[in-house]
Amino acid sequence: MTDTSQVPSTTQFGAPAVSDRNSLSLGSNGPLLLHDVHLVETLASFNRERVPERNPHAKGSGAFGTFETTEDVSRFTKAAMFQPGATVDMLARFSTVAGEQGSPDTWRDVRGFSLKFYTTEGNYDLVGNNTPVFFLRDPMKFPHFIRSQKRLPASGLRSADMQWDFWTQNPESAHQVTYLMGERGLPKTWRHMNGYGSHTYMWVNEAGEKFWVKYHFHTDQGMEFLTNEEAEKLAGSDAEYHRRDLFDAIERGEFPSWTLSVQVMPYEEAKAYRFNPFDLTKVWSHADYPLIKVGTMTLNRNPKNFFAEIEQAAFAPSNTVPGIGVSPDKMLLGRVFAYADAQRARIGTNYQQLPVNKPIIPVQSYTFDGNMTFEHSGDAPVYAPNSFGRPWSDETGPVDDGWEADGEMVRSAYALHAEDDDFGQAGTLVREVFDDAQREQLVETVAGSLAGIQHEVVLQNAFQYWKNVDKEIGDRIQAAVYAGKGDPQVGVDNEAAEEAVAVR
Ligand code: HEM
Repeated sequence: MTDTSQVPSTTQFGAPAVSDRNSLSLGSNGPLLLHDVHLVETLASFNRERVPERNPHAKGSGAFGTFETTEDVSRFTKAAMFQPGATVDMLARFSTVAGEQGSPDTWRDVRGFSLKFYTTEGNYDLVGNNTPVFFLRDPMKFPHFIRSQKRLPASGLRSADMQWDFWTQNPESAHQVTYLMGERGLPKTWRHMNGYGSHTYMWVNEAGEKFWVKYHFHTDQGMEFLTNEEAEKLAGSDAEYHRRDLFDAIERGEFPSWTLSVQVMPYEEAKAYRFNPFDLTKVWSHADYPLIKVGTMTLNRNPKNFFAEIEQAAFAPSNTVPGIGVSPDKMLLGRVFAYADAQRARIGTNYQQLPVNKPIIPVQSYTFDGNMTFEHSGDAPVYAPNSFGRPWSDETGPVDDGWEADGEMVRSAYALHAEDDDFGQAGTLVREVFDDAQREQLVETVAGSLAGIQHEVVLQNAFQYWKNVDKEIGDRIQAAVYAGKGDPQVGVDNEAAEEAVAVR
């Protein structure tokens, strides 16, 4: 870290900077001189201050803290951080998905819930959201999804048509869209929202037994939400509302905490469970797999420097530790590739060496060199195996966090389980989880969003989408849109819409 107590300032190479106020010129009014090294360095460094923002989840912030395992879940996992009494330092980052760096914190969106645990077995990252499901179940669709939620190519504007066209063309989105259009889409603060691993992960115990798990972080502050009106007002008056809230709460000594529980499914039960347990658009019924408490995460330290510690933080689902593995969830497998690749491009080849990303245990890696190498292996052999004493890894045979797969290579959707479909769990959420007030709010919010649609075909598809979720809710949404818009426009576009719906 730069020693800011040094007076006066220096160049980046430590020589006196001479002046931070006046550039070197030929006479008071004269031209500037290129050999003013400090001016050149100041302007050149300014030009390079930014790294590309994350695509997606660009807008966010976070804080450091600790995670403590208060219960005994060692029968499910051998991970050191989840042994009874273990405490690890950690970093959390919360974010919106679609907005850019400067976008308001209170736009309706899913919220990112990224965690990095600095464990004695390497860094463990859990990169989740404030909802237990996601819009898609195949990673091939993810870039298309994000583009549809961002901006139009010509005008650079966001577009209700793109958003709803994408969602209705991909009906597996219905469950997550129902969450998004409900109160979860507008958390009051980051402190007042839950976090979920969303995917199914694997846990492996000391005896080598495997389990499928889902992570639930329940906020100890209680879930609270903004109304559409409050959120809209804040978007204009305080774009950094959530960022400010977290920072100020921690400065005041009010440390937010979350209780981690897991749902655990015995390995063998995955095959016959009524929903495909690896389908990210589905939850597991709590009646089938009740929550098992694990421990508590508490955020108690603000970053000292936003850029160094939050912007350059790199969270990745590929960062797992012994006792924790991934699963056959295709989305998760896509993410295991995507994040580290994005971070090499966004931050730089050796981003893992930055203090915020560095593990607390020694790294002994044969990957080396590249831009900005700071940590290195000295003159140790650069290849393995070698005859000069540098150890290498050499496990063979089945891996302890693996699973069996069979069949020929295909491009195909998941095979359906007994109760799998696109709309069922979304309908259950509307009918059995939401109360009357929440259903009314859902109708209002969706109708408000659909009002921005320009193309009749997209609007008609959206009505049908909601009728598929729940006939009554769909009818109410349609009525609310027409009440706001006047009579339905019947025309060429409408016929195309009916056709499009019919063939789906
Ligand atoms: C195939 C699907 C997905 C792909 C390819 C993908 C890709 C990405 C990429 C490239 C980033 C930026 C990473 C960086 O620059 O540091 C990102 C950020 C993020 N993604 Fe995903 N994503 C996918 C699905 C998901 C899902 C399902 C979740 C939640 C369950 C999620 C949660 C997040 C979060 C929270 C961040 C922000 C990380 C941070 O705080 O730095 N993503 N995603």
